[in-house]
Amino acid sequence: MGLTAGPEPEPLVAATTGAEETRALARAIAPLCAPGDILLLAGDLGAGKTTFAQGFGGGLGITEPITSPTFTLVRQYPVGIAAPGDGEHRPAIHTLLHADVYRLDNLQEIADLGLGELVEDGAVALVEWGDVAEPVLGDGSLTVHLAATGDDDDRRLITITTSGGSWQGRRPALRAAVEQWLVAR
Ligand SMILES: Nc1ncnc2c1ncn2[C@@H]1O[C@H](COP(=O)(O)OP(=O)(O)OP(=O)(O)O)[C@@H](O)[C@H]1O
Ligand SMILES: [Mg+2]
Repeated sequence: MGLTAGPEPEPLVAATTGAEETRALARAIAPLCAPGDILLLAGDLGAGKTTFAQGFGGGLGITEPITSPTFTLVRQYPVGIAAPGDGEHRPAIHTLLHADVYRLDNLQEIADLGLGELVEDGAVALVEWGDVAEPVLGDGSLTVHLAATGDDDDRRLITITTSGGSWQGRRPALRAAVEQWLVAR
């Protein structure tokens, strides 16, 4: 098959029970991230996108409460000294950007937020309703889709999809980080 890129890897499918478990899963993913990463958070109203962001922020060492950015569009949280990357290959993250594009009408408005440029300056961005923004943000992103499962109010299926080369090398570490929540497929 030569040197052509292979197909994108299978999504990782996890399940959590209760908000605290979703925060724990997000906390486990945070240390794998690097400046420039954009995570697209998808799922219906109340699926747990902001809850995920809270855990993720905790994993970067942010102690400030993380609240929904629905009306502010983008909130910025400075990262303390607790997210030093791995000291060798992964540079430190200085800022967490938390955006919610629910209220924006079109892709141009999302592009105008400039998240792609902002993350280049030492930040990671989490984007609620980010799946709709995939055409402008999705290159090399990680998509986290949360969904209620019907019978149990506290249960969520969390489907994590990586795309592009930047996650390829981190894929084994990502799988290991969420392993305890993976559902057999
Ligand atoms: N397993 C779970 N994971 C995440 N949240 C859960 C879980 N079980 C129950 N919940 C509850 O579901 C709600 C999720 O709300 P949250 O604000 O995180 O959703 P959201 O996807 O950001 O919604 P919105 O679309 O309004 O921004 C919270 O009240 C949380 O406590
Ligand atoms: Mg939210």
